[in-house]
Amino acid sequence: MKVHVVTIFPELFGGPLATGVLRIAREQGALEVAIHNLRDHTTDRHLVVDDVPYGGGQGMVMKPEPLVAAIEHAGAPDASGVRPHRILLSARGARFTQASAAALAALPSLLFVCGRYEGVDERVTAWVDEELSIGDYVLSGGELAALVVLDAVVRLLPGVLGNAASPADDSFATGLLEGPQYTRPPEFRGVRVPDVVRSGDHAAVARWRREEALRTTLARRPDLLEHARLDDADRRFLASLGWTGARTR
Ligand SMILES: C[S@@+](CC[C@H](N)C(=O)[O-])C[C@H]1O[C@@H](n2cnc3c(N)ncnc32)[C@H](O)[C@@H]1O
Repeated sequence: MKVHVVTIFPELFGGPLATGVLRIAREQGALEVAIHNLRDHTTDRHLVVDDVPYGGGQGMVMKPEPLVAAIEHAGAPDASGVRPHRILLSARGARFTQASAAALAALPSLLFVCGRYEGVDERVTAWVDEELSIGDYVLSGGELAALVVLDAVVRLLPGVLGNAASPADDSFATGLLEGPQYTRPPEFRGVRVPDVVRSGDHAAVARWRREEALRTTLARRPDLLEHARLDDADRRFLASLGWTGARTR
């Protein structure tokens, strides 16, 4: 996957791109990242990227000219004719989810546009394919949001994670939260791991994991159960815990 980023703070990306899964993906050749400094697309001596808002108000607004020039440059089709999918990070955007991460992971090329100040001139939105928000809070800039999206997407690229099966079991991938996990030692400060996980009975472990995922989801995010794919055994187990929702589906 080829990823472009338009930002006024290229230096924010060095550490994350050189660490963990993003580093491994780059070393494997599964990920290539090009950081574009927005100020390289200004035309004035002072490299100005912002201006006062029309109508008054607090703060500054990012000017459309350098942003659109940068998007047109970074978002141009490559030699094989592939144009990056253009994403503006925005608190007003659609909520980024695991399903959005999976959809983006299927694309060959992405372009992240990182806002700053009070945000971008509205006219810039005509040059992007979608606006994404990573949650109901306001960040100082789109860079950390772009890195959040990038991390969630890249770990889904084929071969990037050591254990290729692990993303499929993660929270949200199944429509549920993941249940508890344990590693050695079998007893820690008087707390033993459940016998079933050490039993070697794979079917029993799988059923226990499913039930613990259901129990955790019911306790922490019952809203997810409304859309999760549940079989009869799942529904019976949830009912035994007092769940009364979506019985008829
Ligand atoms: C200080 S924020 C602007 C907030 C804007 N005035 C508003 O009320 O929606 C500056 C930039 O941070 C980024 N940003 C802030 N919160 C975000 C979020 N929840 N998700 C994605 N990007 C966000 C956007 O790129 C935004 O242009």
